[in-house]
Amino acid sequence: MCGIIGYIGTKKASPILISGLLRLEYRGYDSAGISTVEKDGLSIMKDKGRVKNLYNLKGIDDLQGTIGIAHTRWATHGKPSKENSHPHLDNSQSFSVVHNGIIENYHDLRTFLINNGYTFYSQTDTEVIPNLIHYYYSKDTKDDELKVLRAVQSACKDLKGSYAIEVISKYMPNNMIVVRKDSPLVIGKGDEENYISSDIPAILSFTTKFYLLNDNEFAVLSKDNIEFYDISLNKVQKDLKNIDWNASAADKNGYEDYMLKEIFEQPNAIRETIGSRLPENEPCNFEDLNFTKEFLSSINKIYIVACGTAMHAGLTGKITIEQLCNIPVTVDIASEFRYRNPIVDKNTLCIYISQSGETADTIAALKLAKSKCATTLAISNVIGSSITREADYTIYTHAGPEIAVASTKAYTSQVILLNILAVYFAEVLQSTSSENIKNMKKSILELPYKIEDALKTSDAIKNFANKIYNEKDVFFLGRGIDYNTALEGSLKLKEISYIHSEAYAAGELKHGPIALVENGITVISIITDKNLVEKTISNIQEVITRGAKTLVVTNQALPSNNIDVVIDVPDTCVYLSPIVSIVPLQLLSYYISKEKGLDVDKPRNLAKSVTVE
Ligand code: F6R
Repeated sequence: MCGIIGYIGTKKASPILISGLLRLEYRGYDSAGISTVEKDGLSIMKDKGRVKNLYNLKGIDDLQGTIGIAHTRWATHGKPSKENSHPHLDNSQSFSVVHNGIIENYHDLRTFLINNGYTFYSQTDTEVIPNLIHYYYSKDTKDDELKVLRAVQSACKDLKGSYAIEVISKYMPNNMIVVRKDSPLVIGKGDEENYISSDIPAILSFTTKFYLLNDNEFAVLSKDNIEFYDISLNKVQKDLKNIDWNASAADKNGYEDYMLKEIFEQPNAIRETIGSRLPENEPCNFEDLNFTKEFLSSINKIYIVACGTAMHAGLTGKITIEQLCNIPVTVDIASEFRYRNPIVDKNTLCIYISQSGETADTIAALKLAKSKCATTLAISNVIGSSITREADYTIYTHAGPEIAVASTKAYTSQVILLNILAVYFAEVLQSTSSENIKNMKKSILELPYKIEDALKTSDAIKNFANKIYNEKDVFFLGRGIDYNTALEGSLKLKEISYIHSEAYAAGELKHGPIALVENGITVISIITDKNLVEKTISNIQEVITRGAKTLVVTNQALPSNNIDVVIDVPDTCVYLSPIVSIVPLQLLSYYISKEKGLDVDKPRNLAKSVTVE
């Protein structure tokens, strides 16, 4: 999705803006641009294509301004083109604007502005914003230092939809104004300089101190000051947050790609997720929750709501919570949950999982449950992200920044956190034996070492990837908890290798999909539940009989020896096995993508943070 960068300080803004945009590239985009305040007015440099093309634009080296805004665009309204790229100017060239999000009523606003003499040069929804600001600025008869802010405020009152907006103006040459609603934006505080970004990792190398804007809040920045205002332009105070991610966490650190780095970071990411939550011989420690037995006993239903990989993490969490706590759990896709009038009331706990904490559907689903009086709990990786500010409670995965579009370490840390949460609930509710709790805790603490072992399958997986990278279709099979891993393995493969793949509950095979199994097709299976080994093996035999090439990821001793490749992973408690068995499948999609020469970290059409519906 689109990305925003801003700089206001004492240095030349343009190189800082471009380097910030380069760090936002992973979010996905098709065009890029910057705008700076120059002595003779506002500069605009933009084009479709990669951020690095900006370096070649005529005049870019001549820019001297120390205040600027920048943008990577992911086309929604209008094709990728220079005209549609941001920043956009108003007709009088007095206001320059970048915008993330979608203005739903842009058509009406455009008509209104055209009727008032304005001309449009792009097909974007964004171009209404600078012109609306100009419209209100020219109507305001009061001439004081808040005049531009008032114009931005009036324009925002007319906007329906989601936005994170940066504005610079020739009428306020020492300032920048930013505002957000349902779209991410953070403010980084430096020394005699301040930064704006869509996410924290992009500006971590400049600062670790951040202000987080709430919806409908404005900030007016100068190089050494930031003032915050609410929707009515009353001043508000904000706390500065120190983020304990270091800048190198957002670098490749010698790895060829972020995805590979993040796969190999999983043992440590998980150590961070466990943190001090499982003290030896003591109850689980969730400082931010402190749920009482009375409260948890009042919960008669749990929803876990999320999108994509995060939803797959939820499927695995469901199994542990149901088994340890005896509370029914429904896992829902956020974009479905929000439109299907779910039965939710004050006795419902709704858990929302989002790595970025900015996924539009997940946030909307959370707001819906809140409006129905449910208790809401967010699981996120990004401190202060939007979802964490909406939810009643938040727990963090602490996996460190995840830059590759395909989620890997965030997934495993989400699964482990849900398992720790299940143990915590079970302890408070006394819903399972202390022996079970003790075993679960021991298994969780051993997991980082087991993942280290699972990573050793890398060479064998690379060999297999070399054999199948030209395939057109791949099947993933699993039963019980392994079906969830099949779903996640299949999603990873689709995303970054562009191979069509389907995941099926192995028992479903005979009910239709087996018709697609023909000579030479690849079928990948996961077997980690000892009670289901024979059942899944029977299904694998059925595809072998029909000529399939087979790979099985397992921690069990398998009875059959006519499987083509068996990848052994360490044994662990069945609830935790997806955390170990997904590792070879993450590696498989990575190596296939590499073999095909694709951009592993930035797969086509995908964005890291899906901030619009
Ligand atoms: C897949 C992937 C996506 C995300 C989904 C939710 O690798 O990354 O499916 O899991 O877009 O994103 P978050 O967790 O940020 O809400």
